Amino acid sequence: MNKKTGVKISGTGSYFPKKVLTNADLEKMVDTSDEWITTRTGIQARCIAQQNETTSDLAYHASVEAIKAAGISAEQIDLILVATITPDMFFPSTACILQTKLGLKDAPAFDLLAACSGFIYGLSAAKGYIESGVYKNVLLVGAETLSKITDWTDRNTCVLFGDGAGAMVLSASEENDDILSFYLGADGSYADLLYLPGGGSAHPATVDTVNEKLHTMKMFGKEVFKVAVPKMALAAQKSLELAGKTPEDIKLFIPHQANMRIIQAVAKKLNISMERVFVNIHKTGNISSATTITALDEAIKMGKLGKGDLVELVAFGGGFTWGSALIRI
Ligand code: UT7
Repeated sequence: MNKKTGVKISGTGSYFPKKVLTNADLEKMVDTSDEWITTRTGIQARCIAQQNETTSDLAYHASVEAIKAAGISAEQIDLILVATITPDMFFPSTACILQTKLGLKDAPAFDLLAACSGFIYGLSAAKGYIESGVYKNVLLVGAETLSKITDWTDRNTCVLFGDGAGAMVLSASEENDDILSFYLGADGSYADLLYLPGGGSAHPATVDTVNEKLHTMKMFGKEVFKVAVPKMALAAQKSLELAGKTPEDIKLFIPHQANMRIIQAVAKKLNISMERVFVNIHKTGNISSATTITALDEAIKMGKLGKGDLVELVAFGGGFTWGSALIRI
């Protein structure tokens, strides 16, 4: 029997819009305070896209960096996956728009929607395509412009989210097996705790849906929090078990950056000290599908990871969806 094709993480990249919105800026927009936002969430600032800057623009910059880091030419990419809840438009997919921006033709491209768990869902798909020998170089992107679906008059949500993109190139390899395991889950009965009601077939856009603010994100934060902590801890444990590893084997734990208190609670459940937990929520806010990949890219750039180090990514989000992946850098 032929040896199974392995998967190599060949490069990562990230990109953030230049405009930074601080908690002090938000104090002038809604009834909130830097003290409330910092103590309840850990967020101090977030990046915000310009009006004419799209998700595919952010995805493009992150992708160029990841392709360069992978040491391949863009033409060698044979599949493009974009995880996003803020596509440029309903269709065509942001992945198709990205393909053209990258100057590519013919490579299949599609979007994947699993909210904040989107990048981890995407990792599982990329692994499957490569291991089965179908594609050799997969470009996987997590990209969001959440500022465009934020109700800037709602203090419950507008202080939480930001914009940004991260990308990874995964390649077929004889030597490497960099995605050791993954674990995914979902529970659609929680759909109406974190969602964007308007614009789809349930509430097609009308003057009324605009007036009723159905085109901006709704979240029941406290309820989301309660489910996020146990599900993230479960997911993290499962992918460790599947790979025959323990929390001690992980060099860096990179959780979804939604709330510092969620991150701390999950780390505590797993008995992982905060020194081994990567946190950048203070300057990014919650960027949904882009959180884990941009954090991973930053950790690599900071020199926090050496060749062969094990990293665990874990996320939770709308759906609800959750997932984890144990990867080797
Ligand atoms: O990425 C997908 C997954 N998302 C998450 O994991 C998010 C999970 N949820 C959370 O992170 C937290 O629930 C929040 C940060 C959203 C909220 O924190 P909380 O500790 O659960 O606060 P709360 O919603 O219970 O609100 C407490 C109080 C309320 O006032 P009253 O009713 O006690 O008088 C809110 O109105 O804080 C008030 N509040 C604010 N005050 C100042 C809510 N937002 C703000 C604000 N500034 N921005």
